[in-house]
Amino acid sequence: MLTPGDRRAGIVAGRETEAGVGAAGGRWARSARAVGVVAALGVGLAACSAAPAPAEPAEQRVEVFTWWASGSEKLALDALVRVFAEQHPQTRFVDAAVAGGAGSAAKDVLASRLANDDPPDTFQVHGGAELAEHVAAGRLTDLEDLFADLDLAADLPDAVLDAVSVDGVPYAVPSNLHRANVLWANPQVLADAGLDPAAGYATFDDWLAALATVQASGRTPLAVASTWTQVHLLEQVLLARLGPDGYTGLWDGGTDPGSLEVTAALADFARLIGYTNDDRDALDWQDAAQRVADGQAAFTVMGDWAFPVLESAGEHPTWRPVPGTAGTFDLVVDAFTLPVGAPNPQTAEQWLRTVASTDAQVVFANAKGGLPATTAASTSDLGTYQREAHFAFRADAVVPSLAHGSAIGPAELAALTSAVGTFTRGEASVAQLQAALVEAAGG
Ligand code: GAL
Repeated sequence: MLTPGDRRAGIVAGRETEAGVGAAGGRWARSARAVGVVAALGVGLAACSAAPAPAEPAEQRVEVFTWWASGSEKLALDALVRVFAEQHPQTRFVDAAVAGGAGSAAKDVLASRLANDDPPDTFQVHGGAELAEHVAAGRLTDLEDLFADLDLAADLPDAVLDAVSVDGVPYAVPSNLHRANVLWANPQVLADAGLDPAAGYATFDDWLAALATVQASGRTPLAVASTWTQVHLLEQVLLARLGPDGYTGLWDGGTDPGSLEVTAALADFARLIGYTNDDRDALDWQDAAQRVADGQAAFTVMGDWAFPVLESAGEHPTWRPVPGTAGTFDLVVDAFTLPVGAPNPQTAEQWLRTVASTDAQVVFANAKGGLPATTAASTSDLGTYQREAHFAFRADAVVPSLAHGSAIGPAELAALTSAVGTFTRGEASVAQLQAALVEAAGG
């Protein structure tokens, strides 16, 4: 029979297992089993001992909901969690990640948790329209006091502070920034096709010509994945063809989404899809990036979270702004929230403080691609790509991402995503896609 002392030791041992950071689901699962075994032993103990067991201190935990569940994104989250463990060693990180790029599966899971009054302690959100929708629905606690305490507003570029605020009130702590308009290429595949791997593609049409040349060489010109990555691609075509003001105008009423210029851009999108892999709907963005890394495809268009995937390839990739978008930084802001009704608001606040810290911002940006959200981080601590993105962000025109929740709200984005899927499966015309875009942009 176990003594109460044995029982305590068992629980402590279980927690020590859990304290490991960088632990994949397997380790958490093992430690959860350990706690379960101890709990079962505890029941037996209660049955054979009259002495009341001493009360255990309540477990201190923070449940963090993201979609950074695998590959480079999981490694980056692990790196962030390591900083958290250093800063808040008494709090156990509970990983509630749901796999699927750009939150393609996570957002539905989150919506149903929130609807069922089962919020995590904190969840990942995109700055801009996606955040604003949560605020309008009364799902988030404002972070004015935390921002004041950390003097965080002073450390955030205006575009970032705007993205995490609604009516001037901050509701999320940004963890990092990403650039969405990046074209990644495998130089060897280009050389094999007889193209100059250093060519700049000054215009979108130059790039279309290069895609045709790669196609003739027998390799996939442009690797693309499931529907959200196709929306990401559509976003880049709109940006390239309309320019930063014309593109931003689509979402704020300044540009007519029903115009002939937009029709021409959608026809370009159809041409691009013609250069992509047929099995796109079975892939996620990592698979498409890996095809470029492996030399099966020449190009992929993806945000700079693809950097770690491509960087790990033997043949280092090249990157450039998507042709036609040079001088524009298509901004994605990742941030963390304090949901109304969070079970552990104090540990959620610990998480938010870590996310805001310079150590976390640098470690996370270097592991994930992209760049820190706060200006407190020194560029000398950043990797080569991250530094380049940092300077581009400061110099370029900044526009909000469509596919990553900044430009239009979640319901409109979901409807447009579905229309894009129908179009790329060949089941809708350019006119029908344009009608869906008009609707998504506000009718
Ligand atoms: C974006 C997110 C990035 C990255 C990407 C792919 O929406 O902002 O941080 O996770 O999805 O999953």
